[in-house]
Amino acid sequence: MTLLLCRYLNSSVAMSFNINLVDRPNKKDNLLILATTNHLNPVFPYLNENERAYLEQAATSDIQYVFFPKKTNSLLVHFIDTSDDAHYQKELVRVAGNVITNAFTHYKIQEISLVNTVKKIEIAEYVEGIVLGGYQFTKYFSDSNGNHKVPHQINIAAQDLSAKELNGLQAVLEATYKARDLVNEPQSYLTATKLGEEIETLGNTYGFSVKVLDKPQIEALNMGGLLAVNRGSFGPPRFCIMEWKPENAKNEKPIVLVGKGVVFDTGGVNLKPTPNSLATMKCDMAGAATVIGAMVAASKANLPIHLIALVPATDNRIGNDAYLPGDVITMYDGTTVEVLNTDAEGRLILADALHYAKQYQPELVLDFATLTGAAVRSLGQHAICYMGTAGATVKEQLEESGQKVFERLVEFPLWREYGKQLKSNIADLKNVGGPMAGMITAGKFLEHFTNYPWLHFDIAGPAYLQAPDAYRSKSGTGVGVRLVFDFLKNY
Ligand code: BES
Ligand code: ZN
Ligand code: ZN
Repeated sequence: MTLLLCRYLNSSVAMSFNINLVDRPNKKDNLLILATTNHLNPVFPYLNENERAYLEQAATSDIQYVFFPKKTNSLLVHFIDTSDDAHYQKELVRVAGNVITNAFTHYKIQEISLVNTVKKIEIAEYVEGIVLGGYQFTKYFSDSNGNHKVPHQINIAAQDLSAKELNGLQAVLEATYKARDLVNEPQSYLTATKLGEEIETLGNTYGFSVKVLDKPQIEALNMGGLLAVNRGSFGPPRFCIMEWKPENAKNEKPIVLVGKGVVFDTGGVNLKPTPNSLATMKCDMAGAATVIGAMVAASKANLPIHLIALVPATDNRIGNDAYLPGDVITMYDGTTVEVLNTDAEGRLILADALHYAKQYQPELVLDFATLTGAAVRSLGQHAICYMGTAGATVKEQLEESGQKVFERLVEFPLWREYGKQLKSNIADLKNVGGPMAGMITAGKFLEHFTNYPWLHFDIAGPAYLQAPDAYRSKSGTGVGVRLVFDFLKNY
């Protein structure tokens, strides 16, 4: 396997991009100039007369970038689309960054210095598009060299990005790569046990503390939801606890993140209908990947926030001892649940984690889960369904972060009427709420296990893509990592 080790301010990260701050781009560098088609003047000093004429011509067509190959220092001029909407503008810049990633490989450009001539755009978003668009999961190719894009060195002028901003950018990009890797790992590698080990390794690397509970410990706690889902599995469950507690933490009580860690969801005895749904169900730990990514980003960027992350992990399988429709189980908090569909397993393991979170008296709990098909049907891949009991300010801040990083949020109501759909004849609750508004009844189920300000994010739509969407790679997207990081950065 080829691992590209890149340097950044004395740290090493496995990424095929090395981002450096320089005083100013050197004329002898390969230059990548960001421009708009209606304002070419700032580009002209870099060009001779023929090239200027060519560029002017190109600016009237719909060409996205122009490449001027030279012996020593080549030049790329990239026309950036503009928008009056500040959030769309940021996204257009990321999408542009993704376009240029492929040009690097095509023209075999290995090192480039960025020059920004467009006042209303920021280099950070362009680099985000380049790096996220350049993501590849090559681990399982027998000839991984042949499948790697070329490594690149990107130099940014110090006036365009501070060292602190670069540090934050590097942290969140690396964390998004990590989250994508975890989602893209098949269950043949990433069992619940392995997920626990991966979390321990990340804790050692990035400096957050990790405790992984094994099956006897989970049994001793009576985590009935997690244990019921695990019954059809060959391997044991895990309950993973991560903590980042810097001395300068701004919050007195922790923020707790919870992520659904179903490493594969067959649906259990209520087997998922093939062919469309089963093939992608290694993605069912994407919520776990989000919160693990958030821990990586927060610790690498040294955010002054006390954070805890909880990941209940298991697969959901058919097996001799698998739990059955009609079974009544007793959850960690004592609630009895009539299981009417074994495919509604995510809420069972999350409920135990949400109850576990109460001991911290948290300031805020955010849970992330690929929880329902209803969320996919309602918003598709372009938004996250969210709902919960946290206050208006927190919701506004998260929605603003969502717009900024373009992981947009749409709120759904948790009206009590939806809760009535979860009434059971023989137990406190049933685990399905009928065919209507499934993302909300799932949310109502979770709400039962909370007693603190809480928000639930159903990421089933944007977590895993059938085809790339610009810099959002095919398969695991790492959705939520940039959202949580931006929210925490401004908290
Ligand atoms: N993991 C699925 C939800 C899912 C669907 C994730 C599509 C990613 C893409 C979840 O465990 C599930 O099966 N939910 C059921 C619940 C139903 C039985 C109440 C669903 O939404 O169909
Ligand atoms: Zn399921
Ligand atoms: Zn599931």
